[in-house]
Amino acid sequence: MQAPLGIQNEKRFPVALCPLPDKLPVMKGIILAGGAGSRLFPLTLVASKQLQPVYDKPMVYYPLTTLIEGGIREFCLISTPQDLPRFWQLLRDGSQWGLSIEYREQARPEGIAQAFRIADTFIGQDAVTLILGDNVFYGGDSFQRAFADFQTGAVIFGYHVHDPERYGVVEFDAEGKAISIEEKPKQPKSNYAVPGLYIYDNDVVGIARDLNPSARGELEITDVNVEYLRRGGLRVYRLGRGFAWLDAGTSSSLHEASAYVQTIEKRQGIKIGCPEEAAFRQGFLQLPQLEELASRMPQCEYRAYLEREVIAEAKRAV
Ligand code: TTP
Repeated sequence: MQAPLGIQNEKRFPVALCPLPDKLPVMKGIILAGGAGSRLFPLTLVASKQLQPVYDKPMVYYPLTTLIEGGIREFCLISTPQDLPRFWQLLRDGSQWGLSIEYREQARPEGIAQAFRIADTFIGQDAVTLILGDNVFYGGDSFQRAFADFQTGAVIFGYHVHDPERYGVVEFDAEGKAISIEEKPKQPKSNYAVPGLYIYDNDVVGIARDLNPSARGELEITDVNVEYLRRGGLRVYRLGRGFAWLDAGTSSSLHEASAYVQTIEKRQGIKIGCPEEAAFRQGFLQLPQLEELASRMPQCEYRAYLEREVIAEAKRAV
């Protein structure tokens, strides 16, 4: 289906900013930012969940930044037909940050794995990471290491939670190898939930194409992971204690995510989920371009951070 306002944008890196070496394997990024957002009603009557503020930024900035920090610069954002124009207003074609962002519609929330069908032409022959637009991650370099080591198969993560029955749950054997994954089990076999960041080789396109909807009528991401497990191609890395995974899907968890971000930002004087900074540190943007971006922002705390912390620090280092 055609996206509204002509945002089915196929442009790639319209401005040639700091090209990366050709030899790097291409990892593309999908941000899944549709869904019903029913648990956040009435907030979601006028703006999608992933556009709601998490402290000082729109929610989608956080997963976008997580993938930029992993070295990804080609993105496809999937959302509902009514919300796509707002995402476009916010993120444009990504070239302002040295990225490329395409947009695709998900007409109805028919499951996370549907993303790979919707974005199959975007993925092409490449590997792809899917991140959920309401997942906020902070701390450590587990993702960066997983991206750097990734070659084939699938990589997902396990995170210890007190309420695993709400998620996909991984069971490990005595050697720490994943032996089963179940979606929202009534009796979870472990406390390890699977967070919303999944790294796949190109086989995911075929696997998603062959999936059948589950009993609740969705194309389940857990079924994709189970298929990789069956093929012997699934690795599950456990995220350690120092790592924060916040899912901002309810009023309470949205509030907690904001409080968490505020606490860290105030204490450390850094920002979490700042795509300008992440793109600059990845070399997707050069210093003059970052300065130009900041100079076009209104006087605000976000601009002051970029100017006083990121730009000034970079100038001192030259
Ligand atoms: P959920 O939080 O499970 O669902 P939701 O966002 O529709 O919210 P609610 O349960 O309150 O109605 O979805 C997790 C993330 O995945 C969220 O960012 C939305 C996204 N998603 C889609 O974009 N499309 C889908 O078909 C599904 C199932 C989820």
